Amino acid sequence: METRVVKINEKKIGPQEEAYLKEAGRIVRNGGLVVFPTETVYGLGADAFNAEAARRIYAAKGRPSDNPLIVHIADMKELDAVCAWPDASTRIRALLIAERFWPGPVTMILHRNVSLPGETTGGLKTVAVRCPANEIARRLILRARVPIAAPSANRSGRPSPTDAKYCVEDLDGRVDMIIDGGESPIGLESTIVDLCAERARILRPGIVPVEDVRDALKSVGGAVLDAQTASDETGAKDDRAPEAPGMKYRHYAPKGEMRVVEGASQQVVAYINEAIMKARGQKKKTGVVVSDETAGLYQADVVKNVGSRQDGDEIARRLFRALREMDEEAVDVVYAEAFTGTSAASAIMNRLYKAAGGQIVRL
Ligand code: TXA
Ligand code: MG
Repeated sequence: METRVVKINEKKIGPQEEAYLKEAGRIVRNGGLVVFPTETVYGLGADAFNAEAARRIYAAKGRPSDNPLIVHIADMKELDAVCAWPDASTRIRALLIAERFWPGPVTMILHRNVSLPGETTGGLKTVAVRCPANEIARRLILRARVPIAAPSANRSGRPSPTDAKYCVEDLDGRVDMIIDGGESPIGLESTIVDLCAERARILRPGIVPVEDVRDALKSVGGAVLDAQTASDETGAKDDRAPEAPGMKYRHYAPKGEMRVVEGASQQVVAYINEAIMKARGQKKKTGVVVSDETAGLYQADVVKNVGSRQDGDEIARRLFRALREMDEEAVDVVYAEAFTGTSAASAIMNRLYKAAGGQIVRL
């Protein structure tokens, strides 16, 4: 199939842009696939109520079909069309979260409305819902006149795309249209909060930290379980860290071998430089993902600086690009510093950990 690529500036939507959005909406309504920007990462969208279209998403991404999709809506009023409310408390908690964070980078897991096909929800009784804060995404949903099911717009296993050029790289010829809306301002996928369990649980950390979710729910006194620590604010533990089904798959990984190194800055630099010398001895091309504070200290072939250690938002925004650039430069061995100490740290470390296939060196 021929993929049409159109450019839209979210801040300047005129008649030409409206025409593109109208066409994109028509494609979705007719069961086609449209890649669109959101504030987190790009999404690969289709009509959430069309089972055949959802199957096309899995095929285009090369994604296992038991891994459910996120349904994107333009307004919290549309929640009732995609969810069911088995009890009043779930509804109250959902509305508190929606009011606080939407439109924005928080996805809720709720009970699914039976009219949603199993293809969209990966056969689960629950559904992931989010209202994105991007004008192009919002208008596309309105034009399509249906909620849009969309995973991140990458081929399965690769880092989520934060720039349309990566969507073209991964999906050209596999989708009907790609809307280029520039660089994604957040750069990591949404925080996922599961509201179906008695205790709300974070299934995937994002730029909105667990503390903010707790704060949003504090008026109803519900505890929130953190995926990273598997404990809630009282310290009560769960036996197993909760995770979104998709998180079990290999993710975000560059093609080269990757390791994350955690510890005091000087020791980390020394450790990585030594490892790099060794890899070079084996004729391997080396790369590092590091911060402003240390970038000048590395002897790697490719040095990707993702920003100041103090600025978690900047590191989040630049991380996936850096991982993709390692592939562009055909790096064989990648070392990344651990970026801790900011409110984005939990989300950043979660992605780095997955990208490295769990290989963390703690000094
Ligand atoms: O920021 C985002 O969330 C982006 C943009 C495009 O909205 N989307 C995104 O989608 O990251 P995706 O498909 O790459 O990740 C969705 C995650 C997967 O790990 C999936 O397993 C989980 O959400 N998920 C979806 N439905 C679920 C459900 N009913 N219960 C638990 N987890 C679910
Ligand atoms: Mg994804």
